[in-house]
Amino acid sequence: MCGIVGYTGNEQAAPILLDGLARLEYRGYDSAGLAVRDGEKLAEVVKATGKLYHLADKTDQGRALPGACGIGHTRWATHGDPSMVNAHPHVSGNCSGSGSGQVESDVVGVHNGIIENFTELKEKLLHHGYVFYSDTDTEVVVKLVDYYYKKYKIGPVDAITRTMVRVRGSYALALMFRDYPGEIFAARKDSPLIIGTAQDASFLASDVPAILKYTRSVYYIGNLQVARVSPGQAKFYDLNGDEVALPLTEITWDAAAAEKGGYEHFMLKEIHEQPAAVRDTLNSLVKEGRVVLSDAGLTDDMIRSLTQIDIVACGSAWHVGMAAQYVLEDLACLPVRVELASEFRYRSVPLTEHTLVVVISQSGETADSLAALRVAKERGALTLAVVNVIGSSIAREADHVLYTLAGPEIAVATTKAYSAQLIAMDALAVQMAWVRGTVSQERYEKMLEELCTIPDKIRRILEEKERLQWFSSKIVNAHDIFFIGRGLDYAISLEGSLKMKEISYIHSEAYAAGELKHGTISLIEHNTLVIGVLTQSLLFEKTVSNMMECKSRGAYLMGVTTNGHFDLEDSADFTVYIPKTDEHFVASLAVVPLQLLGYYTSVSRGLDVDKPRNLAKSVTVE
Ligand code: M6R
Repeated sequence: MCGIVGYTGNEQAAPILLDGLARLEYRGYDSAGLAVRDGEKLAEVVKATGKLYHLADKTDQGRALPGACGIGHTRWATHGDPSMVNAHPHVSGNCSGSGSGQVESDVVGVHNGIIENFTELKEKLLHHGYVFYSDTDTEVVVKLVDYYYKKYKIGPVDAITRTMVRVRGSYALALMFRDYPGEIFAARKDSPLIIGTAQDASFLASDVPAILKYTRSVYYIGNLQVARVSPGQAKFYDLNGDEVALPLTEITWDAAAAEKGGYEHFMLKEIHEQPAAVRDTLNSLVKEGRVVLSDAGLTDDMIRSLTQIDIVACGSAWHVGMAAQYVLEDLACLPVRVELASEFRYRSVPLTEHTLVVVISQSGETADSLAALRVAKERGALTLAVVNVIGSSIAREADHVLYTLAGPEIAVATTKAYSAQLIAMDALAVQMAWVRGTVSQERYEKMLEELCTIPDKIRRILEEKERLQWFSSKIVNAHDIFFIGRGLDYAISLEGSLKMKEISYIHSEAYAAGELKHGTISLIEHNTLVIGVLTQSLLFEKTVSNMMECKSRGAYLMGVTTNGHFDLEDSADFTVYIPKTDEHFVASLAVVPLQLLGYYTSVSRGLDVDKPRNLAKSVTVE
C-alpha cells in the first residue's frame, strides 16, 4: 500500500505534491511527508502523523516549503507504527530525531511496498557504520542505495540497480540525490508507479488520478526498471543500466470522473455510477447481439478445450468469483473452483493447459492476486485477467485481459467495480455456454437481452434509496449482523456483509443459510439482525425457514427478494424488493440495497465512509 508522488519543473513543488497525495490517500492515510529541494540547497523534509490535512496545515498548504523538485508519501504502516519517526520520506544520513528538517543526506526517498530481507540488509549496513532512526524497511533501502552510491561512485542509476539486485520484496521507489538537483530517480518491482511528462515538468505517482490534472502523457515503468526524471523528460534503464525505450501512453478518461461531483462521499457517487459502469462494460463486450471476446484474445477453440475454470481473487473480487461460479457451472456446465489468491499462491492446485485461471481485480495491483497469476502461468494454465485499471500489473502479465469499464474508483469500499466485474463474468458465462453448446440460440439471445436490462433495473433500485436510509437509522447501534442465503444468494450475502463491516465497523458475518444450525445459530439472541437474501425461487422457502429459525430465537429479520414474493412480509420485519430478472444475473441487483445499507449505516455512525480505518484501496503487500 502507500501512495507516492514526485514533481520536478518550474512551479513550487509542495502544493502539487500535496494535491497528488490527496488523490492517493485511498492507498493509506496514517501519516504523510514531503521532501522538497530548492535549487542546489539540501532537501527539506516535513512529516505529519494522521491524515494528509495535518501535513497541509504544517506547510501552509505547501506554500511554506520553497523549491521546484520534490517527492511525497502517504503511508499505510507495514513496518513500524504510524509515527513521525516512521513516516516517509526517509534519509540516508545518520541523523537523530525523525529525519526531518533540512537534512545532511546524500539520498532521500519514499517507498511503497515491502522489503522482505530488510533485517539482513540492516545488519550489513550497521556493520558499515550506518545508524538507524526508524523501524522501517524503507530507511534500510534508502541507506543501501547510499552505500552503493558511495562505494562504486558511478552515479544514481548504478547505485539503484545494485540495490535492486540485493533486495527481495516489492517496491516503488522515488529518490533524490544531493548531487543531482532538479532530478528524481525511481525504480519499481511489483508495486505500481507511473511517470507523466508535460512541457517543462515531470510527475511521478502510484496512480493516474494523482497527476491527471497536469498531464495525460504517461509512461508505465516496467518491473525491475529504473527511471531518471528531469523537467519534461524521463529516461529508463534495465537492471544492467542499459537505456530502454518505453512507449508514451495517452490517458483518455475524464479527470472529473475521479472527483465527487456533488455527492457527499465518493462511495455514494460510485454507487450511483453503477448503471453506467455496467452498461459501458456490457457495451464493450456485446456487439450486434453477440458477446465478442476477441478483444480479450479468447477464441472459441480455447473455450471448447477447457476442462476446468479456477477463479482467483481477494475481497469483493473474490465474492464476484463466488457468484460467477454458480452461473458458469449452471450455464456452461464447467467445473469451477473459486480460490482466495492469498491461499491459492501457496497451494499445489493441479493445473493444466486446459484450465482457465481467471484473476479478478479492480486495481490490477493486488499483491496476492498478482502472485497467484504468476503461479498459474508457471504451472501452464491459460490466464485471463478481469481488471479495471488499464496498464496495471495484472493486466500486463495475464495471457488475456478483459477490461471492466467502471472508471476510476476512489472509495475504499468497492461498488461500481464489483458490479462491472459481475456483469463481465455473466457475459463470459453466457458466451461460454453458447460456444460449448449448452444453451440454445433462443436462450442465448434471451439472456443477452436480459443482461442489457440490468443497468436500468439498478437505476430503479437506486430511486428507492430513502427506505434503506430510514432502515439504517434503526440498526445504527447493532452489534452483530448476519447475512444469510443459499446458492447465489450466499455469494450476494458475502458481499453485503463485507460492505457492512468494512465501513460501519459493525461485526457481521455471511452464512450459507442451511449451515447456521451447525453452530452459528447459538449467537442469535434478542434483536440480533438477520438479513436474508432470497432471489432463487427454488431455494426461497428453504431460506425463509432458516430465517424463521432465527426469529424464534429472538432475531429481527430483514429480507431482500424479487418483486412478487410478497409473502416474505409475513415473516420479515423489513422487506426490500428488487426488479425481476433472469435468476442467474440477480446478484447485480440484490447487492445494491446491501451497498446502500452499509453506506447509510456508516454515515449514521459518523464514520469516514470513503477511508475506513486500517484499510487501503489497493493492497500491494502480501
Ligand atoms: O483491487 P482488487 O479488486 O484486487 O482488490 C481486492 C480487495 O482488496 C477489495 O475488493 C477489498 O476487499 C475492498 N475493500 C472491498 O470493498
